[in-house]
Amino acid sequence: MLIFFMTQIVANDMLAELYSYLTTPCSFETRQKGYLRESVAIEARYRRCHHVWSAHLEQTRRAIIVSAEQCKPCRKAVVLGSGSLLDIPVETLAARFDEVCLIDLIHPKVARRRIRSLPNVYLAEADLGGIEVLPFPESDGATLIVSANLLSQLPLSPVAALRRRDAPEDECLALGQVIIETHLARLRATGAHLCLITDITRQRLDHAGNIVMQEDALFDVTLPAIHSEWDWDIAPAPEKEKHHSWRHRVAWVILA
Ligand SMILES: C[S@@+](CC[C@H](N)C(=O)[O-])C[C@H]1O[C@@H](n2cnc3c(N)ncnc32)[C@H](O)[C@@H]1O
Repeated sequence: MLIFFMTQIVANDMLAELYSYLTTPCSFETRQKGYLRESVAIEARYRRCHHVWSAHLEQTRRAIIVSAEQCKPCRKAVVLGSGSLLDIPVETLAARFDEVCLIDLIHPKVARRRIRSLPNVYLAEADLGGIEVLPFPESDGATLIVSANLLSQLPLSPVAALRRRDAPEDECLALGQVIIETHLARLRATGAHLCLITDITRQRLDHAGNIVMQEDALFDVTLPAIHSEWDWDIAPAPEKEKHHSWRHRVAWVILA
C-alpha cells in the first residue's frame, strides 16, 4: 500500500514537471540550451525541499528589503534573475517603487500569477549573460538593481558548451571568469543602488555532515566586501545523490 502511494506521488510530481515544461512560455533557444528544464527542476525541488530552503529564501528577501529601504528615490527597481520569485519580495518592491521590472530568460507561470494584481510590475525576457559591458535591458532610470541568485548561474551553460567541444580547462575557467567580471562591471556601470546576492561556494557533504568537496561557484573571481553570508541546503540527500548532500554558501555582496 505504502509503495503504491509513493509511486503515485512520484508519478504526480513527474506529470507536474512535464506539464510545466510543455506550457511555460519561452523562446526555442532557451529550451534548447536547457534553461527551461533547469527552471522546472528548481520549482520541483523547491516543492520537495522548501522546509530546508526557507532560511535561505528569507535571508535573500531580507537583503532585498533592506536594500530597497536604503534606496532613494524609489522610482524604478529592476530585478535580474527573478525566476519563480521564490526569493523576491515583489509585493514589497511594488508598494515602495513607482515601477518594478523583473528580468529573466524564463518567467514561470507561478511568477506570472503572482504579479497579476500588481499593476506597476512588468516582465522582460532577456539573456543577462555575455561578455560585453552593455547596459542591462530596462535599466534606464533604475534607482535599485537587484541581482538575485543569478551570478553563479550565468557561466554554466556557456562553459558547458565549451567543455563539450573539448576546450582546455584554462579556457573554460577564463570564460567563466570573464562572464562573472562582466556582470559585476555591468552592475557597477548602472549608477543605481545595488543589491547583489550570489552563491560563492558549493559544498558536498557526507552523511555525517563533513565537507568532502568544496568548489568556488564564481570561477575564483574575488568579490568585494561581503555584507553577510549564509548556507543554502540546496539538495539534502537523497535529492541529488543518495549518500551525499549539497550545500551552497551564499553572500550578500557590497558593490560600490
Ligand atoms: C537560482 S535561480 C534564481 C532564483 C529566483 N530568484 C527565484 O526566486 O526563483 C537562477 C535564475 O537565473 C536565471 N538565469 C540563468 N541564466 C540566465 C541568463 N543567462 N539570463 C537571464 N536569466 C538567467 C534562471 O532562469 C533562474 O530563474
